[in-house]
Amino acid sequence: MVDTTSLSAAPLPLPDLYARVSHHILPMEWPALAGDIEAILSLKHERNAVILAHNYQTPEIFHTVADIVGDSLALAREAATTDADIIVVAGVHFMAETAKLLNPNKTVLIPDSKAGCSLAESITAEDVRKLRAQHPGVPVVTYVNTSAAVKAESDVCCTSGNAKKVIESLGVSKVIMLPDEFLAQNTAAQIPGVEIITWAGHCEVHERFTAEDIRSVRESYPDVVVLVHPEAPPEVVAEADFAGSTAGMIDFVGQKRPGRVALVTECSMSDNVAVEYPEVEFVRPCNLCPHMKRITLPNIRKALELRQHEVLIDPTLAARARIAVERMLAVR
Ligand code: 13P
Ligand code: SF4
Repeated sequence: MVDTTSLSAAPLPLPDLYARVSHHILPMEWPALAGDIEAILSLKHERNAVILAHNYQTPEIFHTVADIVGDSLALAREAATTDADIIVVAGVHFMAETAKLLNPNKTVLIPDSKAGCSLAESITAEDVRKLRAQHPGVPVVTYVNTSAAVKAESDVCCTSGNAKKVIESLGVSKVIMLPDEFLAQNTAAQIPGVEIITWAGHCEVHERFTAEDIRSVRESYPDVVVLVHPEAPPEVVAEADFAGSTAGMIDFVGQKRPGRVALVTECSMSDNVAVEYPEVEFVRPCNLCPHMKRITLPNIRKALELRQHEVLIDPTLAARARIAVERMLAVR
């Protein structure tokens, strides 16, 4: 099973690493990648660095140089416990900021500082202050896909893996849930007793899937099991067999071992999970996240060589944002 610990042991020799990605990388392409991989492995060792990689990273990152892989929640949890001096986040900027919030005294690097997120872009700290003024006393639950400034205005964070639990932990009948409208609507459907005030932010990858896409996959493959990420619109989730975070989808495949599965999410997920489950056939309705794809082996190598691009957060703001993240991590 792909989990947050499976890749954290001593690195495999290069031929074994190639074996892991040989379904995606031709033998003729490997030499060009192998140089960067070898350099990254030795730089990590020299600098006591760790690489956290999100499930949407490409297989040549996910299966060769990453120490910890997982969904946003697992990466936050692992970031909170690492004893490395340097954390390189192979993911997007909000993930690197979360790692920094949890490690104010460590160096956190992101290989491309432009690796953003349409959800994080959809809302500002000022927007949250205005919403609070419109709904006095209503707690603000903020998806981790936001800036540290937005987290600082929030009561508690959540991810797609724990949104229901986080809201239930508040024991209230009304919350503001930001900024992903679809995640909020999909979560509201699971907690009918709680009114959820939403914001009109969307993930540019998942908002493009339609219910018709799912129906057409089922028409072509009547036995397919369809797993959908809850950042997709509710009518897409309604067509699925299961909706969950990227780790939730991976666990589903690991536990149920469907003969044929469609992961309705970012393209690299199927590539990464297929390595672990060669007996499962992956149908690939696939949208690419341009932000995740900014991270490459060459820029990870450069980040380690030059200690760039360091993520820094104003300490006063960070102290407030950290409270919301730590409250989330305390919910089990
Ligand atoms: P999770 O990995 O937490 O499900 O998040 C998906 C995502 O879109 C992250 O940007
Ligand atoms: Fe943001 Fe969507 Fe890309 Fe995740 S997949 S980083 S939510 S735009």
